[in-house]
Amino acid sequence: MITEIEKKCLAMQIPIIKKETNEYIAKIIKKNQIQDILEIGSGGGYSAIKMALLDKKIKIITIEKDKNHYQVAIANIKKMNLENQIEILNEDALETNLNKKFDLIFIDAAKSKNQEFFLKFKNNLKKDGIIITDNINFHGLLTAKITNKSLKSLVKKINNFKEFLKNNQEFTTEFIDIGDGLSVSRQRGENERTCSTTK
Ligand SMILES: C[S@@+](CC[C@H](N)C(=O)[O-])C[C@H]1O[C@@H](n2cnc3c(N)ncnc32)[C@H](O)[C@@H]1O
Repeated sequence: MITEIEKKCLAMQIPIIKKETNEYIAKIIKKNQIQDILEIGSGGGYSAIKMALLDKKIKIITIEKDKNHYQVAIANIKKMNLENQIEILNEDALETNLNKKFDLIFIDAAKSKNQEFFLKFKNNLKKDGIIITDNINFHGLLTAKITNKSLKSLVKKINNFKEFLKNNQEFTTEFIDIGDGLSVSRQRGENERTCSTTK
């Protein structure tokens, strides 16, 4: 059934997480016994469904601002009988305020807003929580010579976000070169969780 969902998302041109990225995140979730997840950017619900299927104890809140994507995600979550594990909000994440704290925050929405999402939701992390941001390599375009103005501005924002992570005093970040590139950030401190999936 999950393959059908994958095909449906792709047919509707709703982007979905790359297989190797999904596998890497699954390893982090299992290794750290992660249960509470916040996802920014549900798309058609594919990545939330894949994460929820890892363990019945996993609870996910996922935020999607596009009405059509939200409807597709709702239908897919229902089809998989995962309504008890996945709650989806049809909102702009930058306007969403949550009181809850999460073990993992997965940022996979507007790439120009990565830093804003990170700053907005970092206080929703549990003490030893992890923030993962997808597409950090941005299809290999970060070092390309680009003339298109809006693309150039987007590339600049992603590069700035990477610099922000590299220089961050509160979080330490690993840049993982799989899929379209991931950043895996964890709060500095004594009880840091294991981000490496090989340790
Ligand atoms: C790459 S897709 C998400 C794919 C999904 N995580 C998956 O792998 O199945 C990005 C989604 O983020 C949504 N999005 C973009 N900006 C957003 C925002 N400010 N708040 C909530 N959702 C947003 C887009 O509408 C799009 O559906």
